[in-house]
Amino acid sequence: MPLVVLTRELPDERLRDLLDEFDVEVRAPAEGELYGEADIVRIAEGADALITVLSDPISRSVIEQIGSVGIIAQFAVGYDNIDTEAAAEHGIIVTNTPDVLTDATADLAMGLMLGVARRLREADAYVRAGRFRRWETTTLLGLGLSGRTLGIFGMGRIGAAVARRALGFGMRIIYHNRQRANLTLERRACAQYVTFDELIEQSDILSLHASLNTASRYLIDRDTLLRMKPGAIIINTARGPIISEADLVEMLSKGHLAGAGLDVFEDEPRVHPGLLEAPNVLLAPHLGSATVEARTEMAAMCARAVAAFLRGEATVANRVV
Ligand code: DGY
Repeated sequence: MPLVVLTRELPDERLRDLLDEFDVEVRAPAEGELYGEADIVRIAEGADALITVLSDPISRSVIEQIGSVGIIAQFAVGYDNIDTEAAAEHGIIVTNTPDVLTDATADLAMGLMLGVARRLREADAYVRAGRFRRWETTTLLGLGLSGRTLGIFGMGRIGAAVARRALGFGMRIIYHNRQRANLTLERRACAQYVTFDELIEQSDILSLHASLNTASRYLIDRDTLLRMKPGAIIINTARGPIISEADLVEMLSKGHLAGAGLDVFEDEPRVHPGLLEAPNVLLAPHLGSATVEARTEMAAMCARAVAAFLRGEATVANRVV
């Protein structure tokens, strides 16, 4: 029987039924540990299919050493941890899980945006510390979203879903993307296409939704942050290395930015100590897709892709390679 190796348990064991024609083994790293390249090669031994997560480093060297594997089903929409060029060269199919996590991730981006704008982390700490002794006119004043400019960097599925939500909050929406979005999308979200410089300079809140690649890596550095409006807020639910965390910490500590909402980090799961200390920084452990609905559907998509491949079906859905 073909062997399917998972690097994490599925969110619901019943989903294993989708793979009941095959041998299935969960070969997850020990609690609190992450796999390195050698670990992936070791656990992929004898596997026909792999179901991977974004912390699994599937480099060219790994691809060259996992000869038995015919498909890698990535349990995420992003697949910057996989050398897809090498996979293509070696005839390995790679699939991902688009669409089903769009709403979940857009909801989280809005949650971080509201949380930072209204200083909910400080507010929660204030109440817990017993400092709420009487109502004052100036306690923890924040930023109202209505009428503010939301800059969206990356107008793909998730960026567009954030734009639609922000419209409901009365925000003006501008965006920058490698390619201008189609007019229907622009009209539906009332979103205006601007240059990257205009995006940086005009946004009261900048929300990142681009994929990680050589062009976006460290795009938000000291120089970019300095060009943002004083008191602006930055939200990142995309990929950590789009922002230089050291530069962000500097701009937050100097008070140039009012706050940040971060679901992703430069070197996950490590978080820059300066971010842990900054008062108006709301942090989440990469929860963008963490709803029961999204994670269940993501798992089902991975299982269906693997099953289609192993059964030799003509079409494997959601192929990126
Ligand atoms: C993705 O799917 O790329 C997310 O970052 C994982 O939740």
